[in-house]
Amino acid sequence: MRPSLAPFPATRLRRLRKSGAIRALVQETTLSPADFIWPVFVRDGEGVVEPIHSMPGVNRLSVDKVVEAAREAHALGIPAICLFPYTDPALKTADCAEAWNPDNLSNRATRAIKAAVPDIAVMTDVALDPYNIDGHDGFVEDGEIVNDRTVEALVKQALSQAEAGADIIGPSDMMDNRIGAIRSALESAGHQNVLLLTYAAKYASAFYGPFRDAVGASGALKGDKTTYQMNPGNADEAMRLIERDLSEGADMIMVKPGMPYLDICRRAKDLFGAPTFAYQVSGEYAMLAGAGERGWVDGDKVMLESLMSFKRAGCDGILTYFAPAAAKLLNG
Ligand code: PBG
Repeated sequence: MRPSLAPFPATRLRRLRKSGAIRALVQETTLSPADFIWPVFVRDGEGVVEPIHSMPGVNRLSVDKVVEAAREAHALGIPAICLFPYTDPALKTADCAEAWNPDNLSNRATRAIKAAVPDIAVMTDVALDPYNIDGHDGFVEDGEIVNDRTVEALVKQALSQAEAGADIIGPSDMMDNRIGAIRSALESAGHQNVLLLTYAAKYASAFYGPFRDAVGASGALKGDKTTYQMNPGNADEAMRLIERDLSEGADMIMVKPGMPYLDICRRAKDLFGAPTFAYQVSGEYAMLAGAGERGWVDGDKVMLESLMSFKRAGCDGILTYFAPAAAKLLNG
């Protein structure tokens, strides 16, 4: 039972807010650069820094520039970087073979980062959408996104990422049984220390719009992702998905998008106590960064306040495009 408070004036809750020193002393939640995973977009070429229109301040980077970004992240105290390739439309096919090409953009970037900045953790994305002419995360047969054949491809993709040196593999596809299949393939191939951060509760969200522009998937996508990504009206289902992925060998879990789903983060942390992450996705970034750019809100303050909300909701870390900017502020 919670003891009740002494009546006013013995209890004056404002005493705890009276000065910066006291507020700092009783602050429950803190934010640090060590809480961030920085998602970056990789493209072909050399020396290329290409702005993404719908994500002010975010660029597509060629592999050499991604290595520079990894160096910067490491110096700022950001422990992990997450790679998303912008794939040449000519390499998008129905069989998605580019997804497990050992020399695809994502694998080349992974090798380059691990060679130059071995101490930063590299996370990669498992899903077929960057490589699929249909723009879907799985194979499409007669208009249906098929599960089991997709999982076989995802296993090949994950193995190629592990071979390239990825530390953390992030299946973002929402197929059934992919965590178990990838985990057992990794074990058999000697990659027993590769972590799986599962996009366990990933909603079919309109907040992914700018990301699909960034990776060039918007034009390709036929239809929507509602037969595999979650219905925003559901929360119990998220717990079932997380439980299932943990039971198949996931090391860490993710809720995505972030701010509209903080209730899911809290429930997941309370129920499972597993390392829990939220993805503050491209549309969330675009709203905050766009309003900040126009001076409609204080961009730096809303950035830090939004990131703090994830920690308060029970998350251990956040995937956020704000990672370097927030880390700079936090480091003073
Ligand atoms: C696709 C994938 C998406 C994101 C990460 N991986 C988009 C989608 O499911 O369509 C979204 C990230 C963001 O919006 O920042 N597998």
